[in-house]
Amino acid sequence: MTALNRSQEAEAAEDAGSNASANPTLGEVVAARFHRRDLLRGALAVGVIGAVVGPRALAAAEASPFPFRELPAGSDERHHVAEGHDAEVLIRWGDPVLPGAPPFDPHAQTPEAQAKQFGYNNDFLGYFPLPGAADPAGHGLLAVNHEYTNEELMFPGLGRQEGKAAFAGMSKHLVDIEMAAHGGSVIEVRRDGSRWRVVPDSAFARRITATTPMTLTGPAAGSARLRTAADPDGRSVLGMINNCAGGTTPWGTWLTCEENINYYFTGTLAADSPEARNHKRLGIPGNLYAWGRFHERFDIGREPNEPNRFGWVVEIDPFDPNAVPKKRTAMGRFKHEGAAGILARDGRYVVFQGDDERFDYVYRFVTEATVDLRDTAANRDILDRGTLSVARFDADGRGAWLPLVFGEGPLTPANGFRDQADVLIETRRAADLLGATKMDRPEDVEANPKTGKVYVMLTNNSRRKAEQVDAANPRPENRFGHIVEIGPDAGDFAAPAFAWEVLVRCGDPAVAAVGATFSSATTQDGWFGMPDNCAVDSQGRLWVATDGNSAARTGRADGIWAMETEGAGRGTAKHFFQVPTGAEMCGPYFTPDDTTFFVAVQHPGEADEEDPKAEPATFEKPATRWPDFDANLPPRPAVVAITKRGGGRVGT
Ligand code: FEO
Ligand code: CA
Ligand code: CA
Ligand code: CA
Repeated sequence: MTALNRSQEAEAAEDAGSNASANPTLGEVVAARFHRRDLLRGALAVGVIGAVVGPRALAAAEASPFPFRELPAGSDERHHVAEGHDAEVLIRWGDPVLPGAPPFDPHAQTPEAQAKQFGYNNDFLGYFPLPGAADPAGHGLLAVNHEYTNEELMFPGLGRQEGKAAFAGMSKHLVDIEMAAHGGSVIEVRRDGSRWRVVPDSAFARRITATTPMTLTGPAAGSARLRTAADPDGRSVLGMINNCAGGTTPWGTWLTCEENINYYFTGTLAADSPEARNHKRLGIPGNLYAWGRFHERFDIGREPNEPNRFGWVVEIDPFDPNAVPKKRTAMGRFKHEGAAGILARDGRYVVFQGDDERFDYVYRFVTEATVDLRDTAANRDILDRGTLSVARFDADGRGAWLPLVFGEGPLTPANGFRDQADVLIETRRAADLLGATKMDRPEDVEANPKTGKVYVMLTNNSRRKAEQVDAANPRPENRFGHIVEIGPDAGDFAAPAFAWEVLVRCGDPAVAAVGATFSSATTQDGWFGMPDNCAVDSQGRLWVATDGNSAARTGRADGIWAMETEGAGRGTAKHFFQVPTGAEMCGPYFTPDDTTFFVAVQHPGEADEEDPKAEPATFEKPATRWPDFDANLPPRPAVVAITKRGGGRVGT
């Protein structure tokens, strides 16, 4: 979810949650460093390769890893994919997931129907090959996050309900539909020839909602600060909310990440509440949903600890529809974007995480135990023990992971931390005290096993002032975002320190004032702004999904761009997929052989916020009616399966 697409009220809520700590910014040291590194990268890299391998091999080595013909950039009511590919809708909001789901009828929605149907605003996608399938790359489970709901596009005659509208049109019935449209879905999917289909009435099918029973596990489970009237033990919670991106683990589980949990809380905290500082740091209450009117637990005046039970990474076994989802508190509590993991050299599991807020941080979790790849059940609770760290990016191109461990450094009772549970519940404040680097909204952070690098998507931060610029966040009023590349020491993803550099500053390279740094091979269709989610395919190629491009803002809709990271082509971006107007691109995920690329089209039909003439988008007047283009149907968030016509790897 972009901060912008939920109105001025959302902006105010985010202000309340923004980072007020006094962590240092690094100043001018930057300019010098970037000139030096840019020079090294261009001249030296080509010179060295050329001297060693000769011109012919050099030409071969320099062949683009993305030979597809580039898609022209633009914006219209439909989706588009690069020539030679097919992009077919697989499942839409309201389509059946569980047996007995009624057909989608937007004029007769009920919470019961929605709880059996595909939820709203599909975000993260994770594909799990079915063990024993004849074609594992063509038959598996797809785990899908349903991040949030747009009441103005879902329900007839309503419009936006937060802020001045004061939720006047919201009833318990509508709130309960919203709660059932959140969470996640597990669907069984199968390829017949070139076409993917959802397997009806699958034994694996599952809907998870804002009321599904879950457990809290790890060091914070049972903390007094997680206890409520409904759960005096502080170990059981109903539902997960605002699940944005996530990850899949080598032991076959789905990690799904709670992001903007503040939006769901309303009410006023008691004046003497011990949670005041904690809630303020996360912007709670965010006041964007009416849930607190009908469900006491979302009213912080009545249940001040309920927010502490959200903002976690949730681990779910997609192969067992009865498995109780587990909120893994050891991985920290903040506005998690995603949780993409990789095996360290010694077999421990390393998960990278962004905290998507202006001036917040990049985190890493390393398990204590090593992963057992032969007995996957042995890893069942491996994410309950390990070390959470936060990143500091230094001006000299070095960086360090700072462990968030109770009793170490400033994380002591003197600063209000009584135990590790306190450190985890207030992860952001602990990271403030450690001197972490304030970033330009960290979104997906993904490791590339082929290159040994880690890519950090920093989507934008228009509020960074000139005096707040630092080496890792080099532009004031950063409207278009950038990508930072981390190189762990000795190629070890669990190493305590790393080198880093800016891979690319995004935006239009033709506008000098923007300061974009795409390679000169990048075309006018090939540049993008606002990187958000990303995927690394089995060949180690990086694909970037965007959030916030529009006709008025960048002259192009959001979509997928291929991004070269190695060799002379480094920094070259190429346009591959375009979403319909008003939508954001989410969920990029490849099958293990790269023959299918699943993507999620989120909130199609929203108005272009940068266009002063754009009317508010509603159920009756959406900006598009994608994907059905039926005058009786609203737009519907949907998953799209992209394949190469005639077979083969996508994007070749
Ligand atoms: Fe849900 Fe950071 O986007
Ligand atoms: Ca997003
Ligand atoms: Ca975003
Ligand atoms: Ca991703």
